Amino acid sequence: MACKAAIIGGGVIGGGWAARFLLNGWDVRVFDPDPEAKRKIGEVLANARRSMPGLSDTAMPEEGALSFHDTMSEAVRGAEWIQESVPERLDLKRKVYQALQAACDAEAIIGSSTSGFKPSALQGCATRPAQIMVAHPFNPVYLMPLVELVPSAANPPETVERAKAILAGLGMFPLHVRKEIDAHIADRLLEAVWREALWLVKDGVATTEEIDEAIRMGFGIRWAQMGLFDTYRVAGGEAGMRHFMAQFGPALEWPWTRLMDVPEFTDELVDLIADQSDAQSGHLDIREMERIRDDNLVSMMRALKAQGWASGAVLNKQDRRLSQAAGMVRRAEDIADASKPIVTQARAVPVDWLDYNGHMTESRYLHAFADASDRLMEIVGCDQDYIASGGSFFTAETHIRHIDEAKLGERIEVRTRVLMAEGKKMHLWHEMYAGERLLATAEHILIHVSLETRRPAPFSPEIAANLAMIAGAQAELPAPEGVGRYVGAPR
Ligand SMILES: NC(=O)c1ccc[n+]([C@@H]2O[C@H](COP(=O)([O-])OP(=O)(O)OC[C@H]3O[C@@H](n4cnc5c(N)ncnc54)[C@H](O)[C@@H]3O)[C@@H](O)[C@H]2O)c1
Repeated sequence: MACKAAIIGGGVIGGGWAARFLLNGWDVRVFDPDPEAKRKIGEVLANARRSMPGLSDTAMPEEGALSFHDTMSEAVRGAEWIQESVPERLDLKRKVYQALQAACDAEAIIGSSTSGFKPSALQGCATRPAQIMVAHPFNPVYLMPLVELVPSAANPPETVERAKAILAGLGMFPLHVRKEIDAHIADRLLEAVWREALWLVKDGVATTEEIDEAIRMGFGIRWAQMGLFDTYRVAGGEAGMRHFMAQFGPALEWPWTRLMDVPEFTDELVDLIADQSDAQSGHLDIREMERIRDDNLVSMMRALKAQGWASGAVLNKQDRRLSQAAGMVRRAEDIADASKPIVTQARAVPVDWLDYNGHMTESRYLHAFADASDRLMEIVGCDQDYIASGGSFFTAETHIRHIDEAKLGERIEVRTRVLMAEGKKMHLWHEMYAGERLLATAEHILIHVSLETRRPAPFSPEIAANLAMIAGAQAELPAPEGVGRYVGAPR
């Protein structure tokens, strides 16, 4: 049975949480008195469905069920995780906890999205302070991995560990903030940048657009991969951080910063900034900007996946978790029915696989089929250890037929047959589907090789036996339509 989450307050942040839980297979129960909440959450969900599955190189679980409830007590019934995302008012948040604690499970975790309040302030007059803690996410919650998890002394360590495990299971990166502090860690840093940026605009030094360029063309890119301290360590050259500090430490005393001075929010300042912001990007509506933001975020995080670094490392870990949970076959002995084609790939089409025609580009068909061949190799025994011991397969020939389009976010599956495997040669047939719609076929000849001589070499006994088992069991299937077809043959 699916786990249940309750979302209390379904605005920008609550909607993002709803999507994060739902797309990870949780049932989600929403309470929000706003009559527009259903529509707003629907729009956030639509954005999440097109972007979030693309973070993964394996299939996401089946979506959970979404329901809306008229009362808070009904929404929290049976929920394991309750996420409060009501407006940032301490009295309102405290009132909400009192009401929901009268109805929720005493074991449930109540996470607050608060950007500023300490957990002990939130716990104030609660019936059971031990179950309330800060779980501060970042917008868009369905893509950003960071969640600042801030407990107080009232939260037992085992509850904190359980909270971390649940958040990690949602593909997030729970950062345990060990000392409670107003605005936690990230918003403290952002607040300093925001304050300086407001001064720069107010003093007429730079426009909103020039400040954004200063961030996105420079340190913004650096921060996304190494953060602040590692970036400066590298900037210190071979002598590292000590040298960096000796060189730039004294600059802190120069009057570069306005420190805690905050510009007064006069009508003039608000108009100045809002007008510049309209001039900068007023030609795009907010939903369009959200889609651009989401596509950029997914593309950047996918690039970091290839490096196994920062948010990319978190996504790789989640892929391993998802692929295990989905029960993808990894060994020949796990194949339930070898007489059927084997599912060797299941995933969604990510944004960086699209071309100018708005569908999956041709090279990505080969990418997906190559991944499917890799999986088949692993299944028959040509895994990382085997390759490290000096044996592998090289692809000698490929023929792909493009039959139908694959769209952004669409779930695709590759089913594989072993048509022949003898001596040194393996003949594979892959079919790619979206549901039962055939998108493409691929026919490959792979040659088993010695990585030492780089020449063909006979299969190992284990690979030979596994391939013979699969090819034998699948021999009864009718010959695939299109097998042996040459380029340009009449259809
Ligand atoms: N917007 C951000 O970038 C951001 C980022 C991280 C955290 N947060 C935090 O998340 C929380 C929510 O912020 P938001 O930006 O989503 O605000 P929002 O105004 O978009 O959403 C708040 C929602 O709460 C609902 N609500 C009001 N009273 C309620 C009640 N008694 N019970 C249930 N629902 C109620 C409103 O109808 C609204 O839909 C705040 O604590 C904020 O500090 C915001």
